[in-house]
Amino acid sequence: MSASPVRILILGTGAMAERHVHFFGEIEECRVVAAVDIAEARVKAFCAEHDIPTYFTDLDAAIAWGEFDAVSNITPDPVHHPTVMKLVETGKPILCEKPLAPTYPLALEMTEAVERRGIVNMVNLRYRGLPVMQKARALVQDGVIGSVRHIDAAFLHSWLVGNHWGDWRTEERWLWRLSSAHGSSGVLGDLGIHILDFACFVADQMPGSVHCRLKTFAKAENDRIGEYGLDANDSFVMSLEFDGGALGLVHATRWAPGYANAQNVAVYGSKGGLEIWFESEEMGLRLCAGEDVHTQTWRDVECPPVPNTYREFVDAVMSGDNRQPSFRHAAELQHVLDLAFESDRLGRTLEVEPPPQLKEATG
Ligand SMILES: NC(=O)c1ccc[n+]([C@@H]2O[C@H](COP(=O)([O-])OP(=O)(O)OC[C@H]3O[C@@H](n4cnc5c(N)ncnc54)[C@H](O)[C@@H]3O)[C@@H](O)[C@H]2O)c1
Repeated sequence: MSASPVRILILGTGAMAERHVHFFGEIEECRVVAAVDIAEARVKAFCAEHDIPTYFTDLDAAIAWGEFDAVSNITPDPVHHPTVMKLVETGKPILCEKPLAPTYPLALEMTEAVERRGIVNMVNLRYRGLPVMQKARALVQDGVIGSVRHIDAAFLHSWLVGNHWGDWRTEERWLWRLSSAHGSSGVLGDLGIHILDFACFVADQMPGSVHCRLKTFAKAENDRIGEYGLDANDSFVMSLEFDGGALGLVHATRWAPGYANAQNVAVYGSKGGLEIWFESEEMGLRLCAGEDVHTQTWRDVECPPVPNTYREFVDAVMSGDNRQPSFRHAAELQHVLDLAFESDRLGRTLEVEPPPQLKEATG
């Protein structure tokens, strides 16, 4: 392990990289030493703005340079797999943006590659860093709401309706998200992974079966803008039965005017219920349990601060011990998302069975 501070390489300097550089900047034990982007003007401007000394327009050149200890991969979804598979050869820890890969087989290949080499690996399911999410899970695990029976989780965006994040009709960073030919799995791949993780993490259960409906609404002439065919789903509704016995509804849309980036998660059990709301970095958690269930009285719950994913990653790099959420966990969720696509195509419920290679491995 190299000496402190941990030297971070940023891979991909688009919109989300701003958050990475901001949060890594708050951590004393690390330093962003270089960035890579295939768009030279963008990486140059990014490095100048954030005082990052070195930039590359090609990952191979950065790998050959080698003067970094860990990588934060913030490239578009379909680029995660090829870049991670290259990075595995360096043996350096990787924080990868979500979704780990557009499909489960690719996500599994990445997982097996990092595990085989013993590389620290995490996926930026960043809502794990919300105090409300951690506190809600602790309440469930402490039995405060009893056995979880019913889950309702929604992720709401509205950038197809409002212009608050720019103009999706002209900006490439939105257009690729609407086009399967550009590697997008639609809102199911983009937000589905977050809201599914939110529901599973809080309820402390994983999906056992899934039934999903996807919808792509018409939004441009001939469903096309330039090179972008607008075929990726922009709304989904998924019903699930969890391995702990609960039933759940998990859904997300880009058509929710009034909400820029909101998540509402409710978990009801045999002894109480809890509800979490999150909207553009504001959040709250309320609980109805104990005697309050007779009067439907809800009480706000205080939630102490928790480390964010960037902090967890730097700690994992320094200690060499992996932290959650790992590549394997993200791959397991990707398996459910792949089944959700298949369920929509077939029009029926599918069981979340372990993939054949895992079945063989476990006999
Ligand atoms: N965790 C979260 O909450 C969250 C939020 C937003 C986006 N994301 C994820 O972050 C990733 C990036 O999203 P974004 O909004 O920043 O996209 P973006 O399009 O704004 O930026 C991606 C950048 O990667 C660069 N790039 C493409 N191929 C590359 C390659 N081979 N090597 C180096 N750079 C390359 C592009 O030129 C671009 O600058 C996506 O996977 C997205 O799903 C996660």
